[in-house]
Amino acid sequence: MKGKIEFQIMFEKRILCIGAGYVGGPTMAMIAYKCPQYRVTCADINPERIAAWESGELPIYEPGLEEIVGATRGRNLFFSTDIPSCIRDNDIIFVSVNTPTKNFGIGRGEAADLQYWEKTARQILQYAVSSKIIIEKSTFPIKTALAMERILTGQTEDIHFEVLSNPEFLSEGTAINDLANPDRVLIGSRETEAGFRARDVLVDIYANWVPKEKILTTNIWSSELSKLVSNAFLAQRISSINAISAFCEKTDADVAEVARAVGMDNRIGSRFLNAGIGFGGSCFKKDILNLVYLCRHYGLEEVASYWESVVKMNEYQKERFIRNMLNTMFNTLSGKRICLFGFAFKPNTGDTRETPALDIARKLLAERAEVVITDPKALPNARLDLAGAEGNLFYEENPYKAAEGSHAIAVMTEWDLYRNLDYEKIFRGMVKPAFIFDGRNIIDRPKCHEIGFNVFSIGKPPLTHYE
Ligand code: NAD
Ligand code: UGA
Repeated sequence: MKGKIEFQIMFEKRILCIGAGYVGGPTMAMIAYKCPQYRVTCADINPERIAAWESGELPIYEPGLEEIVGATRGRNLFFSTDIPSCIRDNDIIFVSVNTPTKNFGIGRGEAADLQYWEKTARQILQYAVSSKIIIEKSTFPIKTALAMERILTGQTEDIHFEVLSNPEFLSEGTAINDLANPDRVLIGSRETEAGFRARDVLVDIYANWVPKEKILTTNIWSSELSKLVSNAFLAQRISSINAISAFCEKTDADVAEVARAVGMDNRIGSRFLNAGIGFGGSCFKKDILNLVYLCRHYGLEEVASYWESVVKMNEYQKERFIRNMLNTMFNTLSGKRICLFGFAFKPNTGDTRETPALDIARKLLAERAEVVITDPKALPNARLDLAGAEGNLFYEENPYKAAEGSHAIAVMTEWDLYRNLDYEKIFRGMVKPAFIFDGRNIIDRPKCHEIGFNVFSIGKPPLTHYE
């Protein structure tokens, strides 16, 4: 009892996040870091994940994360698997569980699988003994808050649950900076007195470090939809430039020069115009497919197919990459050793969800190539992703050893490491003619060509040593 009283005196607010993944963990760590006056708990059903958060080996790699977890863990940041008591002890509950694409039943392959959040909502209802603010932090389909309200309301007279939408816009690899200096924080609420009150509580939390003008408040449906639309727009830019990269390859234009020229128009802007083997990551594809599913649900077929084409273009880009390798390497990859530089879906993360490298590796194995994968952070996940894959598959952390004896290098991830390798040394150890297929346009093309490589980039004229 004494402990309980001290606990309440010490902290102004008690905040819980259900779901300690890529979003829940860093987001709660940032709140705890910026707001020592709050007690923050991150809970998860996965005991290994929680044990990792409590250990020196965090469950995810994110630059700067170790420092802020190190500064807050045990001070005002706690991890737990005891979800019932966490629900009882906290008044403000973020829900940051996974919302993958449904892989069964109606909406299979498009709709969001909402079983995890519904279980969470029902647990909140079951264990809460006082009123709570429930915050959707996961990316949900529009109108999820309505479903959540329906589950949570009308069951107990004295307890009120107010649902807010507060989607997360962080990017992996830059999550800590994104959380510390967000472009905006979006908070959607019901336009009722209780809704505005709850919204203001959340505004006050962020206002501890985010300038007020960057905290955007909207109605709850606009907030839910804006998250899907943000990801759709970002992915659309990538597919747009990738479409143009195919055109450049037919016409000797250089996609990087085109992107630069186009992006210097302030109305267009220069970011997210890097052509490559396509976007990966856990969210772009799933969120667009979810948008497509919702458009169809509302009878908007033309709108659905417009957005669907963004995903189709992404698939086309990977297919094109493999075809190009096959055609270039004399129409057979069978028995040839191909070294993949990078496996993570982007640099500075070990995350491999929806990584284009996985598709490329599978396609290469289907061509009976020997595949060697190297990556500074993603090899453990690569091994899991390709467990049981048939064929000659090897993993090697050292890029020089990985490339030894290869016929070709294919750059999958834009890690800085791969820009600055000693390509002369690599060339000496490779089978000739040696090829580089730069799926991220990061290597020094003229230099590698001069060394002796046949260089193929995305959306640029090839540099070869034959006619
Ligand atoms: P994740 O899979 O890394 O983490 C989700 C966690 O929720 C897992 O650890 C899982 O064990 C836990 N969980 C599932 N059901 C639970 C339950 N009933 N009770 C307690 N814990 C439960 O996923 P993530 O990448 O953190 O994404 C979470 C959400 O945030 C998704 O909706 C995603 O679309 C969105 N989002 C992700 C990113 C990103 O960069 N990864 C960025 C913005 C938004
Ligand atoms: C993306 C969004 O950028 C975040 O705002 C959003 O919160 C998040 O999705 C989410 O909802 O999960 P993330 O997937 O972590 O973040 O990484 P991005 O930097 O967006 O990169 C996604 C993919 O696009 C990577 O495979 C990257 O290599 C690729 N990309 C990115 C390109 O091919 N070209 C570019 O110009 C930019």
